[in-house]
Amino acid sequence: MQTAKRIEKLPPYLFVGISRKIAEKRARGEDVISFAIGDPDLSTPPHVIERLCEAARDPINHRYPEIDGLPQLRRAIADWYQHRFGLTLDPNKEILPLIGSKEGIGHMSFCLIDPGDIALVPDPSYPVYSMSTILAGGEPYYLPLMEENGFLPDLGKIPSDVAAKARVLWLNYPNNPTSAVAHLDFFERAVAFAKKYELAVCHDAPYTEVAFDGYRPVSFLQALGAKDIGVEFHSLSKSYNMTGWRVGMAVGNEEMINALMRMKSNLDSGIPQAIQHAAIAAFSGPQDCIPEHNLIYQRRRDLVIEVLGKIGIEAKPPRASLYIWARIPEGYTSAGFAAKLLDEVGIVVTPGTGYGACGEGYIRISLTTPDDRLQEGLVRLEKWHGESRVWSLESPVTRGAVGGTLDH
Ligand SMILES: Cc1ncc(COP(=O)(O)O)c(C=O)c1O
Repeated sequence: MQTAKRIEKLPPYLFVGISRKIAEKRARGEDVISFAIGDPDLSTPPHVIERLCEAARDPINHRYPEIDGLPQLRRAIADWYQHRFGLTLDPNKEILPLIGSKEGIGHMSFCLIDPGDIALVPDPSYPVYSMSTILAGGEPYYLPLMEENGFLPDLGKIPSDVAAKARVLWLNYPNNPTSAVAHLDFFERAVAFAKKYELAVCHDAPYTEVAFDGYRPVSFLQALGAKDIGVEFHSLSKSYNMTGWRVGMAVGNEEMINALMRMKSNLDSGIPQAIQHAAIAAFSGPQDCIPEHNLIYQRRRDLVIEVLGKIGIEAKPPRASLYIWARIPEGYTSAGFAAKLLDEVGIVVTPGTGYGACGEGYIRISLTTPDDRLQEGLVRLEKWHGESRVWSLESPVTRGAVGGTLDH
């Protein structure tokens, strides 16, 4: 038996490796605290679970669902977009529910990329944009996200022959892993760039509801003309702590939504219907869980930033997302520093290079660790630094704003 060449081209998925390493340490009886994965520790709101249980008991929901989702779910998504972003979307043509946004993102590459085509992919970024490009036979062209640019790609630096060969520009704000945010003027420049080179734009936006200090992230589709060339991927995973239920959506350009529907109808059979009812309850029910959860993340964010500051690792508090993107001390690689933390204090963080070469020099710390474990992790970190002085406090790392607060 021989697997296809395209499988050989893929590196192992980042978090599979991390999870295995944690499991091995735990099997040896070591107490490992993970700040690695962006999977909310908080529960799905009770009214959503109640609706899910009720719908699971109804035999009508035991059968194959429709690929394009229940009309009531598409309507609930349209209402939510209207209410949250002031955008009007046609539930029959401009909305497609997904089995979590990850599968939609992956399948969208197959809708846009033919062998040899280029996809413009930020570096660092969520790995699915580049991996699905490669699986579709295309080639990612990486756009460096630099701290001095607020972690926004410099579209003006993309060579015109590359832009002409490109089919899609991937964007993601609030950003994973850098936690940067983008404003409408940047999205409008992205729309103009995409129109000039006849590209599609895919904006991945699962973190618009996870924001702090009163900040309210915008939708890419609010940019003038965005729907002419682009879609936005969204998810219930982070907004309503529903990572385990697998439900998200793509919204926007009708042609792109239709292509994704055609692709998916040949590969999957839609979202289990009881979960679709849970999603409707999440969108249409009380929304107070969102600010409540954000306050918890905000408190954790402040605790982590304070301790990082004390041990000489400077990181600005993010305005949105579940992550702190911190500069590591001089003299280490991201992978080396992450390995040191795991080996010496049993703390897991994600090395920045897991998201691309430009992630070198950074680690990502997730705020989804339960309060007591987070406190314990921070105590360990402070004590470890105090005892071993593995890097000098005399040269704290001060490299400006992490969190992308620049208005580009
Ligand atoms: C930027 C980004 N996009 C998409 C996803 C996938 O979310 P979902 O659970 O909807 O598949 C994640 C999950 O961590 C993410 O960070």
